[in-house]
Amino acid sequence: MIRFWKSKPAPDSEGFYDTGIAATSVIAGQMTVVKIGGKIAIVTRVKGRLVAFSNICPHAAADLSKGRLFDGQVKCLDHGYTFDLQTGRATWPEGEGCRLMRFTAKEEGGMVKVRLSAPNFG
Ligand code: FES
Repeated sequence: MIRFWKSKPAPDSEGFYDTGIAATSVIAGQMTVVKIGGKIAIVTRVKGRLVAFSNICPHAAADLSKGRLFDGQVKCLDHGYTFDLQTGRATWPEGEGCRLMRFTAKEEGGMVKVRLSAPNFG
């Protein structure tokens, strides 16, 4: 299930955008898509932890929100490239150097916040 959210337009003093998403609504295996700071981030959980990443596939820029989540990975449906959500590294094809752009996500006051300004490449 994919749900679209649009956050408040400005980040806080640490660069985190309030996504307007309740942390309890972010579930492993489901993508929650949010538009923040002119970008689209996908939020989900891996092993209970919040993770956020760009919707743009690093292979050829397909929309990863149309992909599939499984076992802590996202698979792009255009050419099948698969990325580990915790490291950003490609798990298929083997040896592929492109990395998924990840963002920092945190829970604060029961809500999900995402920082775009310091992408986490793993
Ligand atoms: S664009 Fe995603 S695998 Fe090619």
